[in-house]
Amino acid sequence: MDILIERKSVRKYTNEDIEKKDLDYILHAAMSAPTARNTRCCSFVVIKDKETHKKIAAVHHAAQMILQAPLAILVVGDKNVVFEEYLPQDCSAATQNILLAATARGYGSVWCGVYSNKKISEAVEKLFNLPENIKAFSIVVIGKSADNNSLKNRWHPEKIKYEIWG
Ligand SMILES: Cc1cc2nc3c(=O)[nH]c(=O)nc-3n(C[C@H](O)[C@H](O)[C@H](O)COP(=O)(O)O)c2cc1C
Repeated sequence: MDILIERKSVRKYTNEDIEKKDLDYILHAAMSAPTARNTRCCSFVVIKDKETHKKIAAVHHAAQMILQAPLAILVVGDKNVVFEEYLPQDCSAATQNILLAATARGYGSVWCGVYSNKKISEAVEKLFNLPENIKAFSIVVIGKSADNNSLKNRWHPEKIKYEIWG
């Protein structure tokens, strides 16, 4: 399987759990993402508790798939250790590594955005009792896929320019 090309957002899951060794691999991949100036500003909250899943669904309209997933990972960034403009870039790289690592281990996943929505990010930061310097960035929902949608072709050569735009 080519994980880079075959990764897709999965929003339907079986009720199978994520194995501990796979979760550790996914978190290791997240921590292996690049960070500007090597600040390693990202941390990760593993969320298995169903009650917390319900609370997330209540504040994030586009994260309803969490209600049937075994696990989610909240990606956060520490604004005390990173220039604030790098925080979303560093956390994006970590989030993408989570998606790819989950795909590599045979799980489906989806990136639920938090950081760019003030109402959602404030609600999530309150829910997880995050200190003022720790910013909620994304919630990645993960589970064994129960999604039978076939992969769309995403190769668009017209999006490529060589050497110069015009
Ligand atoms: C910054 C960002 C925020 C996203 N937020 C959500 C979200 O809140 N809920 C959701 O279901 N998908 C979310 N997605 C997933 C996109 O909808 C998805 O990547 C897009 O539709 C393309 O589909 P694909 O991932 O299968 O290629 C988000 C993706 C990104 C990059």
